[in-house]
Amino acid sequence: MRNKAIIEPFRIRMVEPLPVTTEAQRRQSLERAHYNPFLLRSREITIDLLTDSGTGAMSTAQWAAMMTGDETYAGSESFYALQEVARSLTGMKHVIPTHQGRSAEHILFSVLDAKDRVVLANTHFDTTRANVEYLGGEAIDLVIEEGLSPASRHPFKGNIDLERLEAQLSREGDRVAAVLMTITNNSGGGQPASLENLRAAGELARRYGRPFFLDAARFAENAWFIHEREPGQQDRTPREIAQEVFSLADGFTMSAKKDGLVNIGGLLCLNDDTLAERARALLILTEGYPTYGGLAGRDLAALAVGLEEVTQPEYLKYRVASVRYLHEMLDRMDVPLVHPAGGHAVYIDAAALYPHLKPWELPGVTLCNELYLEGGVRAVEIGTLMFGRPVDGAHDDPAALELVRLAFPRRTYTQSHVDWLADIVSEVVARRSTARGLRIKKQSLILRAFTAELEPIGSA
Ligand SMILES: Cc1ncc(COP(=O)(O)O)c(C=O)c1O
Repeated sequence: MRNKAIIEPFRIRMVEPLPVTTEAQRRQSLERAHYNPFLLRSREITIDLLTDSGTGAMSTAQWAAMMTGDETYAGSESFYALQEVARSLTGMKHVIPTHQGRSAEHILFSVLDAKDRVVLANTHFDTTRANVEYLGGEAIDLVIEEGLSPASRHPFKGNIDLERLEAQLSREGDRVAAVLMTITNNSGGGQPASLENLRAAGELARRYGRPFFLDAARFAENAWFIHEREPGQQDRTPREIAQEVFSLADGFTMSAKKDGLVNIGGLLCLNDDTLAERARALLILTEGYPTYGGLAGRDLAALAVGLEEVTQPEYLKYRVASVRYLHEMLDRMDVPLVHPAGGHAVYIDAAALYPHLKPWELPGVTLCNELYLEGGVRAVEIGTLMFGRPVDGAHDDPAALELVRLAFPRRTYTQSHVDWLADIVSEVVARRSTARGLRIKKQSLILRAFTAELEPIGSA
């Protein structure tokens, strides 16, 4: 009989010890961190699922490429190697490296003149929204209704609502700075957009004469879902699918810290010469010379290899299966989840887990604190602390969903780590009715989730 288990398609050559802590130490750490897991130190954390961004393991081929990275200021060969790989994968004319995704976003929305205009997306990721708003624009999310319903099993919950997109395009006209598809849709549960939806969104943008962009941080995972789930796509490779997706767009931003399989890096790729010229001018001002864009030559070299490795079917099959493995275990335990499993993370519906907590009592961060206290597991809230707004003299304007994301660093943890993680979640779920909630003590006005200081409700 054929063995059906999906194995990690790598073996481990270098190990890093995991910090193991006592409950008393974790209590102390959490208090010191003002009950905001972002403020914990790595030595206080046993399994870190805060993010899949820049936290993965590089391959032997990537490390080897780093050794020969070219650190020339202008004209680095590592840039030309990256440019070749990125062009062949994406078909884009202009390849502009940035130090990470958000700098690509800042430059893109600056050159698209977002001020006093709107950006229409399935869902803007938080840095994307913040950049649009910082530049004086309005970020409008138009994900399909199923994308906002954690229980819905729609296979492409990252799709944009085409009717609402068309209505906005027709109403706003030239005020639309861009149509943007985030693939996969991180803030909506790591859910993919279908090829059909991407084609239709691109077509609408073109019909109304507006540029069509991708936030391609997880383009390879999105391509794998299309390969697995979309009728007629099973015989195409993830790379072929990704190539078609890129061909629909006028350009894209990419945090290469995800599907670039590197610890730092980003890309802004464009087809339009004038936009690219303006982008490069801003790049020189804020990031660096166009052949390094805020990165070391060795980082460019590792990214060139990562972009090739990430579309390998064996890797993507393992990647998506390992996330689904935890999802299925938690589902069997009746943990309220976003369905189906996302590409890079499992999302727990904290509002459903803690129905006694109001959004401004931060059910998501409460769950993160519980997971940390139970087993030194760090997760991240994607809810009212991240997306809610302080409203003068009233409770926060809540986020649409109160989610906790357990994000899987790439090629980093093994199946036994995941089994152990399921035990931690089960302990936390068993004591769900006693969770108390948190209040905000101190916050900043931009991206407050990263630095806010909190305290347990009911403490002095
Ligand atoms: C969908 C998406 N877009 C943009 C970003 C921002 O990228 P970076 O963290 O590299 O600045 C992220 C990062 O988490 C993301 O998930």
